[in-house]
Amino acid sequence: MVRRSIVAGIGSYLPERIVTNAELAARIDTSDEWIQERSGIQQRHIVADGEMTSDLATCAAQRALAAAGMEPDDIGIIVVATSTPDETFPATATVVQSKLGCANGSMGFDVQAVCSGFVFALATADNFIKVGQVDTALVIGAETFSKILDWEDRSTCVLFGDGAGAVVLKAGEGDGSSADRGVLSTHLHSDGRLHDLLYVDGGPSSTGQVGHLRMEGREVFKHAVTKMSEVTIEALEATGLHADDIDWFVPHQANRRIIDGTARKLGITGERVVVTIGQHANTSAASIPLALSVAVEDKRIQEGNLVLLEAMGGGLTWGSGIVRW
Ligand code: UT7
Repeated sequence: MVRRSIVAGIGSYLPERIVTNAELAARIDTSDEWIQERSGIQQRHIVADGEMTSDLATCAAQRALAAAGMEPDDIGIIVVATSTPDETFPATATVVQSKLGCANGSMGFDVQAVCSGFVFALATADNFIKVGQVDTALVIGAETFSKILDWEDRSTCVLFGDGAGAVVLKAGEGDGSSADRGVLSTHLHSDGRLHDLLYVDGGPSSTGQVGHLRMEGREVFKHAVTKMSEVTIEALEATGLHADDIDWFVPHQANRRIIDGTARKLGITGERVVVTIGQHANTSAASIPLALSVAVEDKRIQEGNLVLLEAMGGGLTWGSGIVRW
């Protein structure tokens, strides 16, 4: 028998305010047509004044805990994937811990892998469960990218949105085969030589300022399709699974053309791909749990389904995960 991290509940939160492409076109030199054609984005949610990453994360976490039938103090570890923490320190996870009312002294920390953050956080929590250090985990992807965008830079500001998604994991047992429920594999990579393609031009030890997101979009695009296809194939090979076995492909939502290109390379047909980029835009570490949440809510993802996750982000970082729901 082996220990498995089984998904016990999921929840998400999107800020109330929706900003359409038309609204952006009224402010900067862009158009609804360009944004939709190049990225598939129709709208994005943007936080209200004073609404912080920890608020989004806490709301998503409360919904995930309710879905799992658990209380905050049932959780052994909180991992928040974010590149837009409330403060430089402490970790947003500890703020969430406090907002949830956790009093059990369990650990909470952040993981910083930008758009790949949720996959990295999932892998971290899964490993804590697998070695037996904790029995339950709250894995959250939460971002307020609207706070780090250069709203004058049309090549980046139209692409991102705010939001959060959370998953509760619970230790269970399996026979070690791909028929088990739970996280079956995670594969993580990074290559720091590609820093200049996607980064924020500030931080505590460099400029002392928060900075703004900078991206070589065309170059990032090229790496995205290649690296995300490679890391998903790595996951399938490691688990002895085939693309045909996958019930739902839930990729990071950065660009409709990247999603379609990766799915095509894997031979996963359109009906099995969960796409939320149109409504959410790119919410970085929140995009996968948000997409999972939508597909669970509309009953596409059912218990026992095989779900393939993948993402790539600044660093560059990239990773994949296979989860039997
Ligand atoms: O989540 C992390 C990973 N991030 C990504 O995966 C993003 C990857 N990159 C992309 O999604 C795409 O490269 C973009 C959507 C960012 C851009 O699409 P593209 O097809 O690669 O366009 P481009 O950068 O090659 O720009 C084409 C043209 C340029 O004009 P010229 O030089 O051809 O005259 C840009 O100036 O589009 C222009 N442009 C715009 N036009 C209207 C750039 N941004 C805009 C805009 N509205 N918002």
